[in-house]
Amino acid sequence: MALTIWHLLIYLNLFKSSAEQAQTQITYQRWSTRGYLLLLVLAFSILIIYNLFIAEMRSIEVNNPSFTTVKQLQSQSINGLITSLQCSCSKVSISYGNFIQFQPSFHQVCSSDFISTNWIDAVTNSVTGNDGIFGLDFANNGPLFQLLSSLCELSNNTVVNSLKKFQETQLVNAQLLTEDLFDIQVLSIINQFILQTTNKFLRFLQLYSNITFVNQLLSGEFKNFLIKVSNASIPVPVITVRSLNSNNATCLCANDIYCKTPSAIYRLNGPIATVLYYVVGFYAACFPIQALRMSTLECFYDNQHCLNDMIRIYNNSNLNVTRLNSSYNASRFPINSTISNSLEQLFIESWNPTSIYLSYFTQCQLSYCTYQISQPYSVTETITRIVALTGGLTISLRIIALVIAALVIHLLQRHQIEQSIELVTFSRKIYVWAKKLNVFDTVMNNKTIEEQRRGTRVYLVLLSITLLIFGLNNLLIYSSFITVIYNPSLEEYEQLQQQYSIDAINCPCFHFSIPYSSFIELEFDLHQVCGSEFVSDWYIKELFQIYNQLNYFHAKWNAFTLQGTCFTQFQTLAVLCSHVKDIINDGRQQFLASSVISANIIDNSALNTQINTSLMKFQSTLPNVFLNTFHLLRGMIQSNGMVSSYSTNWYLQMKDVVQYATVYFHPQFYNNCNCATSSTCTQSSTPFILGYFVGCTPLESLLQSTFECFYNQSCVDLLVTYLNISLPSSIVTLNKNETRFSMNDTIESIVEEIFIERWLSNISYAKFFEQCKPVACYITVTHRNSFLFAVTTVLGLQGGLVTFFKLVVPWLLLSVEKLAQRFMPRTQSRVHTTMAVFT
Ligand SMILES: *[C@@H]1O[C@H](CO)[C@@H](O)[C@H](O)[C@H]1NC(C)=O
Ligand SMILES: *[C@@H]1O[C@H](CO)[C@@H](O)[C@H](O)[C@H]1NC(C)=O
Ligand SMILES: *[C@@H]1O[C@H](CO)[C@@H](O)[C@H](O)[C@H]1NC(C)=O
Ligand SMILES: *[C@@H]1O[C@H](CO)[C@@H](O)[C@H](O)[C@H]1NC(C)=O
Ligand SMILES: *[C@@H]1O[C@H](CO)[C@@H](O)[C@H](O)[C@H]1NC(C)=O
Ligand SMILES: *[C@@H]1O[C@H](CO)[C@@H](O)[C@H](O)[C@H]1NC(C)=O
Ligand SMILES: *[C@@H]1O[C@H](CO)[C@@H](O)[C@H](O)[C@H]1NC(C)=O
Ligand SMILES: *[C@@H]1O[C@H](CO)[C@@H](O)[C@H](O)[C@H]1NC(C)=O
Ligand SMILES: *[C@@H]1O[C@H](CO)[C@@H](O)[C@H](O)[C@H]1NC(C)=O
Ligand SMILES: *[C@@H]1O[C@H](CO)[C@@H](O)[C@H](O)[C@H]1NC(C)=O
Ligand SMILES: *[C@@H]1O[C@H](CO)[C@@H](O)[C@H](O)[C@H]1NC(C)=O
Repeated sequence: MALTIWHLLIYLNLFKSSAEQAQTQITYQRWSTRGYLLLLVLAFSILIIYNLFIAEMRSIEVNNPSFTTVKQLQSQSINGLITSLQCSCSKVSISYGNFIQFQPSFHQVCSSDFISTNWIDAVTNSVTGNDGIFGLDFANNGPLFQLLSSLCELSNNTVVNSLKKFQETQLVNAQLLTEDLFDIQVLSIINQFILQTTNKFLRFLQLYSNITFVNQLLSGEFKNFLIKVSNASIPVPVITVRSLNSNNATCLCANDIYCKTPSAIYRLNGPIATVLYYVVGFYAACFPIQALRMSTLECFYDNQHCLNDMIRIYNNSNLNVTRLNSSYNASRFPINSTISNSLEQLFIESWNPTSIYLSYFTQCQLSYCTYQISQPYSVTETITRIVALTGGLTISLRIIALVIAALVIHLLQRHQIEQSIELVTFSRKIYVWAKKLNVFDTVMNNKTIEEQRRGTRVYLVLLSITLLIFGLNNLLIYSSFITVIYNPSLEEYEQLQQQYSIDAINCPCFHFSIPYSSFIELEFDLHQVCGSEFVSDWYIKELFQIYNQLNYFHAKWNAFTLQGTCFTQFQTLAVLCSHVKDIINDGRQQFLASSVISANIIDNSALNTQINTSLMKFQSTLPNVFLNTFHLLRGMIQSNGMVSSYSTNWYLQMKDVVQYATVYFHPQFYNNCNCATSSTCTQSSTPFILGYFVGCTPLESLLQSTFECFYNQSCVDLLVTYLNISLPSSIVTLNKNETRFSMNDTIESIVEEIFIERWLSNISYAKFFEQCKPVACYITVTHRNSFLFAVTTVLGLQGGLVTFFKLVVPWLLLSVEKLAQRFMPRTQSRVHTTMAVFT
């Protein structure tokens, strides 16, 4: 059998021709056959391998995909099986409420008995005529628990309102976010929201405390002021700022916002008050809000005996209420943490946010998804493509095999032939072969060999011209190709940008969400006064000394003097400076916590534009919340007739000097207007200082003043002389070149701009790129087809063309002949002449 096959192979002749039966010709045909078969096997192997390994990018669209389909696609996208997955939503904006829910739980104190009226009444009812200690006994703390209750409510309201607003906020995105991107974005949204809500709440409380403090508004608890009556011939009642004792040290409400004394139960022995019991963790301070913030709730937990002690000492069983749960799991705040700690978190134990991707998906109303997939040809496709090429390939290979065989035979016989005529002989052989070439051997068997050969030549010319045209066409045509660069560096990416258009480069980021803080440096400059000696501790301490040495029985008149007011005003300035610094830092922190969220890298200029836009928005909206609260509090102080302990807006007066006489409040008059009707009444101080005004409250008079004097050395010298303060170094004046404000701008107008001189931002593209860390860059380039591609295509066409021309050429020749014979017998010779050209 093997022998048969071997013989079959040996004698196989695919180039049999009726015209060529000579032994040499048959040998030549057999060698051609062998070469041809070899070439064919080789070509098919190459084609099969090439087709099996080449992959093609295909774009696929899925209409109305289900959730499961989309999840599958997303996981494939993560695993790199598919690229450029994009799903388009029908609904472009979706409110947060649809897919993010919060279930905040509050600190147990906000639902405890300690904010109930029963408890507050019980505390208040424990007061036992201890007037001699001016409200320092623990039983005077009823209002403190009232305040705690209000803070709980305020916190709850803030949270509820913020959540309402939050849920209405829209997430705008035309493309469906993948689950990963969604999680990242939701986390960022939630963190931003929590930060924003707590900051807003805290800054409000802080501003409220600060304004109360700098103005020393009378507290109903009697802890920040005292009323004294001079024992002159005509007694004058005055309000003075109080001091508190703690551990033998004295602090003053006027210049120490953290002034406090341990809360205790006192017993009066005649005029002497002795401490009966210290309430652990609890403090009395100048203002209830400060007392509360500095205290802890230690005493009221179920593992403490403190409350039992108080019940016993006060002999008041109404104080026996449910204690707080000391279990470690009941709260994230330790038992001994200050109320300030929980207040700073809005008393919230946990926000319990939940986000549901499915809800978001449903809301988005997906219309379609597209993606690109790189797929190798399937076996059927490979077979189809190869079969398509077969026709062309066989014919080309037949010709090549014939030429090669001729060449090989010729070379083998070379030694017999002289070198000089070698080339001539060879070309002659080719010529003879070409002349005898006949593809119509079997097709046009009713014609002479000569005619068949003529047809062959027409056929070959037409075929060559067509193939040439198609080949050129394929070489000149443009197609898109995708080039991939893995883990590009910034330099490489920048080079790519210079090389290709921005639209052509697509680099997916490793991190989708890049916080601003990782690549933006944001600094700010405050008005130079906030960094000057005029707000420094030592300066304010000096001013306080001057104020403290004044005779407080002259408070009513001190309100008009430089010495009597400058401490309060400079302290107010210092507090304002530090408050705006906090606000700006908060705002900056919030701004930097936002992220650029993008699946692909953003180029430098687009990034700058995007950041610039959000920076501008941030800068213009930053002061708004502060200013709203600021105006509100100032308005409320005036309209509620709050009295400053400095006697600057109201002062005390007695009509009759008798025991138990009634004391009246009288408004101060400045320049013919009074503080009862206007909070902005001001006049120049005595002695006169340029731009310095005295008025109803320290805050209001400061706001009406200007910094004019601080820019003028002789004016500052004058100020120092008037105040007679000993300076450790000479006070440096402000430089008008360093400010965008005018020298005679009121301080109010500077506060409106929250003291900001300028913002300095530094956007580092390198850091952004580092964070994004592109996994790869896909470059879509359109360029001419490769030679291989053109050859393959032409070969593919060839099969069809060969058959086509084989059928058409005989018919064409026949038609031409017939036409010539029928219409113009004369032209017959011309047709023959034309034909002769081919011979
Ligand atoms: C507080 O009340 C509970 C019952 O309500 C009682 O068992 C407990 O002894 C009381 N504590 C004091 C100190 O009176
Ligand atoms: C405690 O109060 C009760 C009445 O509320 C009274 O009978 C009792 O004497 C008081 N005890 C002391 C030690 O004051
Ligand atoms: C408290 O939390 C810990 C860990 O979170 C847990 O093991 C323990 O069981 C919890 N205790 C109670 C009483 O819930
Ligand atoms: C205190 O809280 C823990 C954990 O939340 C709970 O297991 C326990 O029952 C609570 N105790 C009381 C007395 O409510
Ligand atoms: C609170 O108590 C714990 C131990 O119970 C202690 O380690 C911690 O320092 C205390 N914190 C404060 C602020 O007193
Ligand atoms: C933002 O762009 C505007 C106009 O192009 C420019 O005036 C401004 O200085 C830019 N701001 C920042 C912070 O780069
Ligand atoms: C500087 O201050 C002095 C003293 O108050 C004043 O006389 C003078 O006019 C001021 N100069 C300017 C330029 O304002
Ligand atoms: C200025 O202060 C010094 C002490 O620091 C004092 O001796 C002097 O009398 C004061 N001068 C005036 C005018 O008050
Ligand atoms: C302010 O700038 C002007 C001109 O720009 C200059 O002449 C002057 O010396 C500067 N003043 C100070 C205090 O630097
Ligand atoms: C101060 O304000 C007045 C108008 O109120 C203006 O004419 C003057 O130029 C200002 N002076 C300075 C130094 O800005
Ligand atoms: C921005 O940062 C770079 C590098 O940290 C530094 O060289 C450059 O001076 C900074 N520019 C500004 C305006 O701060």
